Amino acid sequence: MKSLSLFSIVLLLAAAGGDSSGMGKEEALAKAKTMTAELAETLKTQLQRAVKEEGFASAIHVCNAVAPSAAEEISAHHNARIHRVSLKPRNPNGAPDAHETAALTAMDEDQAKGQLNEAYVEVVSQSDGSKSLRFMKPILTAALCLNCHGTPDKLNAEAAAAIGKLYPGDKATGYGENQVRGAFSVTVPLN
Ligand code: HEC
Repeated sequence: MKSLSLFSIVLLLAAAGGDSSGMGKEEALAKAKTMTAELAETLKTQLQRAVKEEGFASAIHVCNAVAPSAAEEISAHHNARIHRVSLKPRNPNGAPDAHETAALTAMDEDQAKGQLNEAYVEVVSQSDGSKSLRFMKPILTAALCLNCHGTPDKLNAEAAAAIGKLYPGDKATGYGENQVRGAFSVTVPLN
C-alpha cells in the first residue's frame, strides 16, 4: 500500500513536469501574438522615425537591416520563429513556403470579398511526427508604404533607385492602398 502511493506520487510529478515543459495550443497562440505585436511595433516606430528624420531613401536601411535583425532577436528570445513573407517578396528570404503560400492566397481572396481575418492559424504535423502552430497575420499597405511599394506614379524616385540596387529581383511594387502586402509568419513548436 505504502509503495503504491509513492508510485502514484511519482506519476503525478511526472505528469506535472510534462505539462509545464511542453507547450499547448493556447499558450503557443499567445506567444505568437506577442511576438507579432513586438515586431510590428518595432518596425512601425523605426520606419516612421527614419522617414521623418532621414527621408525615404535612408529609411530603406530600417527595412533592409532592422527588419530581419529584429525578427531574429524576437525569435531567439521566444524560442520560436517569426519572419515576414509575401507572394511578391522584395527580400528573397521573404519567399513563402507551401503553408504560407496557401495562407497568403486565402488572405488575398478574403480581402477581395471584404472578409479578411485578423489572423490565420493552423496546427500542422511534420513528417517526423512533431507538431507546430503556424500563425499568420496580414500586413496591409497604407499611403506611406506606397513610396517604396506602390505603382510607378507613387514610388519615391530616390527610394526606388536605392531599392533597385539592393534588390535586383524585387517583386514588391505595384501595390495600392489597403492591399495585403504580406504577412507576419510565426511558427511555434508544440509538445
Ligand atoms: C523606405 C522604403 C519602404 C517603406 C516606406 C516601406 N517599405 Fe516595406 N520593405 C522595404 C524594403 C527595402 C524591404 C525589404 C526588407 C528586407 O530586406 O527584409 C521591405 C519589405 C517589406 C515586407 C517583407 C516582405 C518582402 O517583400 O520582403 C513587408 C511585408 C513590407 N515591406 C511591408 C511594408 C508596409 C506594410 C509598409 C507601410 C507601413 C512598408 N513596407 C513601407 C522598403 C520599404
